[in-house]
Amino acid sequence: MRILAIETSCDDTSAAVINGSYKLLSNITLSQNVHEVFGGIVPELASREHIRGILPVVDTALKEAECELSAIDAVAVAVNPGLIGSLLVGVSFAKGLAASLNKPLIAVNHIMGHVFANFIEHPAVEFPFISLIVSGGHTELVLFRSVTDFQVLGRTVDDAAGEAFDKIGKLLGFSYPGGPEIDASAKKGKNNKIDFPRPMLHQDNFDFSFSGLKTAASLYRKKHDIDQESNEIHDFCASFQTAIVEVLFKKTIRALKSHSVNRLLLAGGVAANSQLREVFTRYAQKNDVNIFIPSIQFCTDNAAMIGAAAIMKYKDKNFTDLHLNPSPKKGIRRI
Ligand code: KG4
Ligand code: ZN
Repeated sequence: MRILAIETSCDDTSAAVINGSYKLLSNITLSQNVHEVFGGIVPELASREHIRGILPVVDTALKEAECELSAIDAVAVAVNPGLIGSLLVGVSFAKGLAASLNKPLIAVNHIMGHVFANFIEHPAVEFPFISLIVSGGHTELVLFRSVTDFQVLGRTVDDAAGEAFDKIGKLLGFSYPGGPEIDASAKKGKNNKIDFPRPMLHQDNFDFSFSGLKTAASLYRKKHDIDQESNEIHDFCASFQTAIVEVLFKKTIRALKSHSVNRLLLAGGVAANSQLREVFTRYAQKNDVNIFIPSIQFCTDNAAMIGAAAIMKYKDKNFTDLHLNPSPKKGIRRI
């Protein structure tokens, strides 16, 4: 069985071919660089770039997989959440392709895709597990009892973790997205130089908040004349990153303990963060926790994860018809 998967929810045009055992035959991603000068994604430009990129990206994915279109058994596509204009390009393309090939169409929630990115490298992950999903638009802690039976334990009440990284990155004059540059700078700094707040850490719930931390960091920057050429910038990044990582780490561990679950899947672009990976890995080694973290290429947006999330749906014949419409509605959800 082979699935052609398509992902266009934000600013990456991606297509992948994956088989029923989670073996990845190709995964091609075209990252848009037209947004760089704006310091953030311009939705209208993103849709236009997807229109330009989708056909060559799908073509290349099929060629690399040495797979004829006629050998595809289903077309999977990310349908929500995301930028509506961006999603429309992928969904319209997938619908047209599925109709012309007379093959089933599988709708995938992008957040579910991030979680299932873990199955590409660990196809035998068992339920139940808890997933911490941290991306540019989402921060969610979800308990999975099966692929269809899941419960959101908590989520951000304002900004997502990635959003906080990106906004502070922009303030520091880093290129977009700021997460990877803050990560790199933090490695050279001391994380106890600035005592940034740990929002909602002591509240008895699994929700997060990052907008106050972002404000605290930007006020600190305004008050203190941080020398961009000295260690001050690295200390700032290390202290800021540590505040985010500490809240994510402590609340996730609390969720594992309170639900007696010992399997943890990290997911989303912020799961590429080196400090986050390190603290969770260290904890898992010392405690009875099985941790799964996708390699960096599967943390950020890609079509392979959409294909991976489509496999169980294909096996359950959970297909969608051509009336499928994309939606920008946030969060993990059943489709
Ligand atoms: O999952 P993703 O590719 O797109 C969304 O669905 O949002 O996540 C993108 C986010 C951005 O906010 C980016 O700054 C963040 O992931 N990110 C990182 C790192 N690499 C990517 N954040 C912190 N450290 C990193 N190394
Ligand atoms: Zn994403």
